[in-house]
Amino acid sequence: MSLEVRLCGVRLRNPTVLAAGVLGTSPHILKRVYDAGAGAVTTKSIGPREREGHPNPVVVEFECGLLNAVGLPSPPLEESVENLRRAVKLVKGSVIASIYGETAADFRHVASLVSEAEPAMVELNISCPNVEGRIPALNPAESAKIVGAVRDVVKQPLIVKLSPTDTFTIKEVARAVVDAGADVIAAVNTMPAMVIDVDFGRPVLSNRRGGMSGAALRPIAVRCVYDIYEEVADANVPIIGIGGVSSGRDALEMMMAGASAVGVGTAVLKGLDVFKRILAEMEEFLEKRCLSLAEVVGMAHGR
Ligand code: SIN
Repeated sequence: MSLEVRLCGVRLRNPTVLAAGVLGTSPHILKRVYDAGAGAVTTKSIGPREREGHPNPVVVEFECGLLNAVGLPSPPLEESVENLRRAVKLVKGSVIASIYGETAADFRHVASLVSEAEPAMVELNISCPNVEGRIPALNPAESAKIVGAVRDVVKQPLIVKLSPTDTFTIKEVARAVVDAGADVIAAVNTMPAMVIDVDFGRPVLSNRRGGMSGAALRPIAVRCVYDIYEEVADANVPIIGIGGVSSGRDALEMMMAGASAVGVGTAVLKGLDVFKRILAEMEEFLEKRCLSLAEVVGMAHGR
């Protein structure tokens, strides 16, 4: 059975996408993840200037997921673009370039260089919870301004990654970015959270606060995807659903909420076989029910 999907004309051999930030730092690792079965791979977010990120510890596991506050570390921009160029050559499939900036002008500058490296799509990370200042994705006008700033310098389909932090405004933000020129929405980034070490009486992460991913994020992400689908389905804007997906049923749930493709992040840390497992489980389910993948997308919206 074919699990191929198309996002704005870009062919993915299957609907699983390595989410940004996870294993996306080097061309060889991106290739390994693609070879392990992912339908597309996303780079770690590329920034406008060299940046150290936060000191260790930057990751902590808890019962139902993971918290990270890596702090968007980035090599100098030229080096990141060169790495992207190499990844595009090495990976025999779709590479998505994730980018971030502090201002709309930063985003425009990074986007124009990254677009020239010919990734399949460009993803705007406007939703990282781990850096100083506000999360642009919490404000529809600010989000639209960033999308508007990059639109004419990006030749590829433009993905905008939203935040689950305020689930009540996510529809407005989705509408704003689509009106400003976004082609695809990725939902969602991690959820602001904290883990405290009770023995030491201090937060575990050096940044104190972090972004939560993994199983605990999944129902929040499903709700966000469901809401966004209600808002943008009429505009034919595909959604990449991200948050705690680690099985075929999780992926199908995300698609029933309205996602056309599914990001896999935290689960890859337990082994790259996760992609093949998800796909085999999806296939088994679809065959048993005599359903195509397309029929599943948005199914949960039926009455
Ligand atoms: C980080 O580098 O702290 C995580 C990036 C993100 O969540 O967007």
